[in-house]
Amino acid sequence: PLPTLIAPSILSADFACLGQEVADVVAAGADWIHFDVMDQHYVPNLTVGPMVCEALRPHAGRALMDVHLMVEPVDALVPMFARAGAGLISFHPEASRHVHRTLALIREHGCQAGLVLNPGTPLGWLDDLLDDLDLVMLMAVNPGFGGQRFIASTLPRLRAVRTRLDAHARATGRRIRLEVDGGVKPDNAGAIVAAGADTLVAGSAVFGSSDRRAAIAALRAAAAT
Ligand code: DX5
Ligand code: ZN
Repeated sequence: PLPTLIAPSILSADFACLGQEVADVVAAGADWIHFDVMDQHYVPNLTVGPMVCEALRPHAGRALMDVHLMVEPVDALVPMFARAGAGLISFHPEASRHVHRTLALIREHGCQAGLVLNPGTPLGWLDDLLDDLDLVMLMAVNPGFGGQRFIASTLPRLRAVRTRLDAHARATGRRIRLEVDGGVKPDNAGAIVAAGADTLVAGSAVFGSSDRRAAIAALRAAAAT
């Protein structure tokens, strides 16, 4: 399996000093910075856009900017986030009229492409798109807010996607990452990784902790057991 990556979500950071918050979690061992973009249309909340991503990019050092678009429509924001330093751009398929075109657009702009499935979104979306994906993200909460409880039915969904991604890797030699977003804590990270996830988003578990290094280490330790 691919090494487990930890992606703290800035949604739970102190928005009055985001640059410091990002630098702090990168120094504390974060692999990626998870950047939650909400438009108050696809989801009932409003966050930040490409200007903030661009401003934070230098504070993230070696960490990849993992941009999670919870917006509808999607395409117009892709070039803007690519220019703003996104390394990976993920979106929700039901928010794009032409999912395959949006995935291609992301890659044409030099970013990795991810598809995000909500707890109620059928896994069948993946059937014809694996060749066009670098990452699959399963939501373990309904998108819109940090600090929600992990929905348990995500575990069998992770197992089902893991089976498909392993078969794809055997057939093509190409590994697609499997990220989980929402309600990830040290006490469930072991089960989440055992079910097949290799990339963990953690908002409140990292930014809600006064010792971010210890919080990231606790997630990593739980993932390794
Ligand atoms: C929810 C966001 C998540 C969220 C994770 O819509 O996409 O990234 O911030 O936060 P926690 O880890 O607190 O559930
Ligand atoms: Zn997210």
